[in-house]
Amino acid sequence: MAAILEKKYLSSNVVEMVLEAPHIAATRRAGQFVVLMTDEKGERIPLTIVDSDTRKGTVTIIYQVVGKTTTCLADMNPGDRLYSLLGPLGRPTEIKNFGTAVCVGGGVGIGVVYPIARALKETGNRVISIIGARTRDILILEEAMSKTSDRLVVATDDGSYGVKGFVSQVLQDLIDSGEEINHVFAVGPVPMMRVICEVTRPHEIETVVSLNPIMVDATGMCGACRVSVGNATKLACVDGPEFDGHQVDFDLLTNRLRMYYREEKESMEDFRCRCDGK
Ligand code: FAD
Ligand code: NAD
Ligand code: FES
Repeated sequence: MAAILEKKYLSSNVVEMVLEAPHIAATRRAGQFVVLMTDEKGERIPLTIVDSDTRKGTVTIIYQVVGKTTTCLADMNPGDRLYSLLGPLGRPTEIKNFGTAVCVGGGVGIGVVYPIARALKETGNRVISIIGARTRDILILEEAMSKTSDRLVVATDDGSYGVKGFVSQVLQDLIDSGEEINHVFAVGPVPMMRVICEVTRPHEIETVVSLNPIMVDATGMCGACRVSVGNATKLACVDGPEFDGHQVDFDLLTNRLRMYYREEKESMEDFRCRCDGK
């Protein structure tokens, strides 16, 4: 049972936690994730390993509080122990010297793209990062992304900080300016990843996206995380979570993510009622 060692709010509903996990810290690579359970009856949820420290035997996760399990997790504190923590899972990111690599992170997706940007920089790539949030107050990891990038562009939807607009427009402007880009990694909301792929497609720039379908066992047995890539069915937990974005069926992913919306809402409402003692 992994102990929670540190907890910090990066914005009003995004939490960073450092967990005791020496075995995971020793072998994890960029792009991989853990599956955790807060308690015995809880759901298993996948979260990306944002960072690790092999000396201390710790891993760092960053998550947005969106439903029942992330709410339960955010209620836990240093000293508490998770019911279970499994990992590292998923295929690591393919890291090599591409030349100039652009890392695009939208919202909490910045936490997922950060370890990729770091690994790319350590491998000698010229890293340009584009990170975006709806407003300045919910932008995360600006300093960390700046340290790991040769160039960082920040965008906010409302223009409260950096460039006004979506990260996809920043990428479009970069391409239009004649910047030579050899590879793009994009992580964030599904509509964002879809648009990024449409921006790079005409220029034939290889674009990798990290998919976030609902996962159950995360070992390739249940089929819950199936996605369609190049008309072939893939399991995001064992074949991914990263795929060639130009081949992904984003409509199917969007529909499958909505599949349990009613149940997720009921579960959250039931949880809130129990917390309120109703
Ligand atoms: P639920 O009650 O299950 O859902 C609440 C809301 O969130 C619903 O609207 C639902 O449609 C939506 N939702 C549920 N599951 C997902 C999902 N997989 N992706 C997107 N939306 C979802 N989130 C982070 O904040 N940080 C991460 O580093 C991170 N890494 C991930 C890595 C992988 C490989 C995958 C598959 C997902 C990752 N996610 C990450 C998403 C995270 O797993 C979900 O937000 C979480 O499972 C929601 O659980 P919940 O019980 O709190 O919410
Ligand atoms: P958000 O809705 O606030 O969007 C963040 C940024 O993404 C925006 O500021 C904008 O720059 C860009 N964006 C959003 N919609 C866009 C569109 N239609 N076209 C172009 N760009 C767009 O994001 P959030 O609330 O922080 O949510 C983060 C999302 O990341 C969630 O939907 C979650 O499912 C997803 N996520 C994905 C993974 C993964 O592994 N792929 C992991 C964690 C979270
Ligand atoms: Fe069950 Fe991927 S989560 S097969």
